[in-house]
Amino acid sequence: MRDPSVHRRPGLPERVTIWEVGPRDGLQNEPAVVPTDVKASFIGRLVAAGLRTVEATSFVSPRWVPQLGDADALFRALPAVEGVAYPVLVPNLAGLERAQAAGARHVAVFASATESFARRNLNRGVEESLAMFAPVVASARSAGMEVRGYLSMCFGDPWEGPVPPEQVVGVALRLLEQGCGQISLGDTIGVATPGHVTELLAALDRAGVAAGAVAVHFHDTYGQALANTLAALEAGVATVDASAGGLGGCPFARSATGNLATEDLVWMLHGLGIQTGVDLDALVAASTWMAQKLGRPSPSRVVRALAGTRTGGAGDAGGAGDAGGAGEASRAEAAEEEEL
Ligand code: HMG
Ligand code: MG
Repeated sequence: MRDPSVHRRPGLPERVTIWEVGPRDGLQNEPAVVPTDVKASFIGRLVAAGLRTVEATSFVSPRWVPQLGDADALFRALPAVEGVAYPVLVPNLAGLERAQAAGARHVAVFASATESFARRNLNRGVEESLAMFAPVVASARSAGMEVRGYLSMCFGDPWEGPVPPEQVVGVALRLLEQGCGQISLGDTIGVATPGHVTELLAALDRAGVAAGAVAVHFHDTYGQALANTLAALEAGVATVDASAGGLGGCPFARSATGNLATEDLVWMLHGLGIQTGVDLDALVAASTWMAQKLGRPSPSRVVRALAGTRTGGAGDAGGAGDAGGAGEASRAEAAEEEEL
C-alpha cells in the first residue's frame, strides 16, 4: 500500500500545520557537522515535498552547538518560496540580531519547565532565562516578526522526574505574557503518555491557554509520540512538530532521541482524512536521501515501510546500517546516566 485508506473521526481538525524541525532539532544532534550545502538541499527537498514551515537552524553559540555554527550562511542559502516560513531558534539578543541580519522573519525562544534542564541548556535557571528572552521577544515583535515559545521538559525531566502540569502552565503563561504567539510543548525525552497530554492541555485550558495557541513537540523515545499526538488533536491542537525521517534529539539531554517522524505523522493524519499539503512520496525520498548522507537508516517506521516499495530495495531507508549500533550504545549510556 502506498497510502492509507481514509477513515475520519469526529472532533479532529480538518487541517494540521506540520512544523518541520528535522533540519534544526535533527541535525543539532548529529555527531558530525553536516555541510551547509547538504542542509540547504535537504530543506529544499522538504519544501518541495509540500512542507510550509521548516525550522531551519538556531542562532545560538557555536561553541555550544557547533553542528549549527553555519546558521548565517545556511539561512542565506535557503530557497525563497512563496508561503514558506523558516523559523529559527534565538536564545538572546545576539542571536536575534544575527537572525535578523540573515533575513529571518520567524523566531523561537526556548524555555524549560524545569530548573535542571534550563541550566544545562541555557546556562541559567528558569527565571534568568525568562529575563534573557523578554527583550528578545519584545524586540522581535516590534520588528513585526512572529515569535514562538518552546517549553521543554513538559512531562518528565531526566534529573527531576515527573513534571507537574501546574509547573508547566506557570512558565507557559510567562512566555505568552512576554508576547509569544504560540507555545510548543516539548516532551524532550519522550516520556509522555496520552492521558498525561490530555491532562496538561486541560490544565492549560483552565488557565486560559486555548489549544489554538499551543503546538506539541513529541520525541519518540518510548514510542508514544503518535499516540500523544492523537490525544493532542482530540483536545483541539492543530500544529504538530515533527522531524523528517525521525531525526532528532537534544545534545543537552542525552536521553532525548529522535522526534516524531514527519512521515509517521503524515500517514496517520492522511488516514484520518486530515489535510497536510504534504506529498508523502517526496517526503520519504527526502528523508531517504538525508539518511544516505548521514550514513545510517532512518528510524521512521513509515520511511522504512515505504522506501523499499518506492526505491526497489526492501527496507532500504537509506544509510549503511551499521552506524545504527553506535546510536544504540550511546542511548544505553544515556539511560544509565539519566535514570528517571
Ligand atoms: P553562555 O555561555 O552563558 O553565554 O551561553 P555568554 O553570553 O556568556 O556567551 C558565551 C559565548 O557565546 C560568547 O563568546 C558569546 O559571544 C557567544 P566568547 O566571548 O566566549 O567567544 N554567544 C553567541 N554567539 C553566537 N550567537 C549567539 C550567542 N550567544 C552568546 N546567539 C547561551 C548562553 C544561551 C548562548 C548558550 O547556552 C547557548 O547557545 N545555548 C543553546 C542551547 C541549544 O541550542 N540547545 C538546543 C535547542 S533547545 C531543544 O533542542 C529543545 C526543543 O527541541 C524542545 C524540546 O524538545 O523540548 C526546542
Ligand atoms: Mg526537541
